[in-house]
Order: sequence, then structure tokens, then C-alpha cells
Amino acid sequence: MVATIIDGKELAKEMRSELKKEVEQLKEKGVTPGLAIILVGNNPASLSYIKGKQKASEEIGVSFKLEHLEESISQEELLEVIEKYNQDDRYDGILVQLPLPDHIDETAVIEKISPEKDVDGFHPINVGRMMTGQDAFLPCTPAGIVEMIKSANIEIAGKHVVVVGRSNIVGKPVGQLLLNENATVTYCHSKTKNLREHTIQGDILIVAVGRPHFIGADHIKEGAVVIDVGVNRLENGKLVGDVKFDEAKEKASAITPVPGGVGPMTITMLVYNTVKSAKKRVR
Ligand code: GUN
Repeated sequence: MVATIIDGKELAKEMRSELKKEVEQLKEKGVTPGLAIILVGNNPASLSYIKGKQKASEEIGVSFKLEHLEESISQEELLEVIEKYNQDDRYDGILVQLPLPDHIDETAVIEKISPEKDVDGFHPINVGRMMTGQDAFLPCTPAGIVEMIKSANIEIAGKHVVVVGRSNIVGKPVGQLLLNENATVTYCHSKTKNLREHTIQGDILIVAVGRPHFIGADHIKEGAVVIDVGVNRLENGKLVGDVKFDEAKEKASAITPVPGGVGPMTITMLVYNTVKSAKKRVR
């Protein structure tokens, strides 16, 4: 079998053009959606991600503000900056870029963001609402993955989803979202014994471990849908996923590429959440 490629870049483009229309309508009603990103320090990967988020926001018409803070900022000062944006009606979404420096408590920072502006979907209130299937800001990468699976007309209900990786940002919530869609979900992680025995059973296999070429054709069930969340830069500068794409595509029925798969959808869902938040301001 040769897999269909699930083109995240194309789907993201379609969604962005729809969002742009929605933003135009919001502006006619006097509401310009605003996104504030808070960055502490100069992590090069974070700077690069933020550039992508800024470009997408501006392209869609969302006003974008980067609050770039010194690495040495105290936790207390950072919490004050977050509070300033919580109170500022021009910003519908607040995102504090992770990772944070070691002297800052990530949990305290996430809990400081107003749940009503938490466009990352990381606040425990939004995590809880997601768990119980209520309306919530959904975390961007998992929500983007669900959109990609649906856009490829792949049935989720009743499927066995195997998730490799259990991070709070991707692995755990993507399993939860697919459970909400009536999948049967297995989580695998670094302590899982006999990983292959699990992955080989996945009708939908989601890999989010951050290790280049970790999953090969021998881990994949014939005809499975493979979603590769990994973004790894090799020493030669090449960007690769967690899956050996060339061999996996011979066995899967559908697969996401890296780059051009999950990445563009993550950014699009962030803008989607910001626009969703702004709609609450319409009188
Ligand atoms: N760092 C890497 N991914 C993310 C993300 O989705 N949100 C935030 N805030 N920081 C990140």
C-alpha cells in the first residue's frame, strides 16, 4: 500500500482563508482579535516558533503583540505582566512561550493566565473542560491533529488509536480528544514494555516523542493512519519527524509529512482559538 499524504500545509491554508473572512466580519462589528505572546529569554527555537505565529496572525488580520522579557525577570514580575494582559481588553488570547527559565515555576505561570484567554488550552480549567467534553480552548497541536484526521475523511469512532508519548502538550490531550470522538485509546511512553506489540495494533498511530526516526515500518499496522508530531533537526540541517517517512508511507494508508504536516495546523489552531475568544466580545 502507498499512503495518501495528509497535507497539513494545504489544510492550514484553507482554514486560514476562512479565518480571515471571519476576522473581517468581526472588524465590521468593531472587534479586532488580538493575540499577546510573552517570551522570556532568547531560546532560538522559541523565537522561530513565535515568528511563525506572528506571520499567521498578521496574515489573518489578528493584531499581534510580542512581549519580549529579559531572561532574568523574576517570577513575580512575570505574573504581573500576565495580569496586565488579563485585564487588557484588546487581547483575546495570551500565550506564554515554553520552556521558561529554571527559576520560574511553569505551573504558577499557566495558572495565572485567565482561562478565558488561554488560547494554548494549558490552564487546568480548560484541561478539565476538555476532559469532560465541555466547550473549552483545546490545545493547538492535538486539535490540529483531529482536524487533519477528519479532513482526510477518516472515521475515528471505534478505531484503536495508539499514542506514543504522554506529554501534557500533545500526547495526553490528543488521546483524550480522540476518546471524546469515541476511539479506543492506548498510551505508550518511555516505560512501556514491548512498544512494537502496542503500536502494531494501532488503526491510528500518533507519534509525539521528539526522537528522529524512532518509529519504522515494522511498528506500523498495514493500512494504519500515521500522524507524526516530531520536528527534529538532524546534524546536516534536515528537518525530520519521529517516523521513518519513506518506509512508513509504503505500509500506512495515510500519513502526515514533516515538514508540512502537523506544524502548520498547530499555528492555525492558535489563531482559531484567538478568533473564538474574540467572538465573545461581540455585543
Ligand atoms: N513550546 C513548544 N510548544 C508550545 C506550545 O504549544 N505553546 C507554548 N506556549 N509553548 C510551546
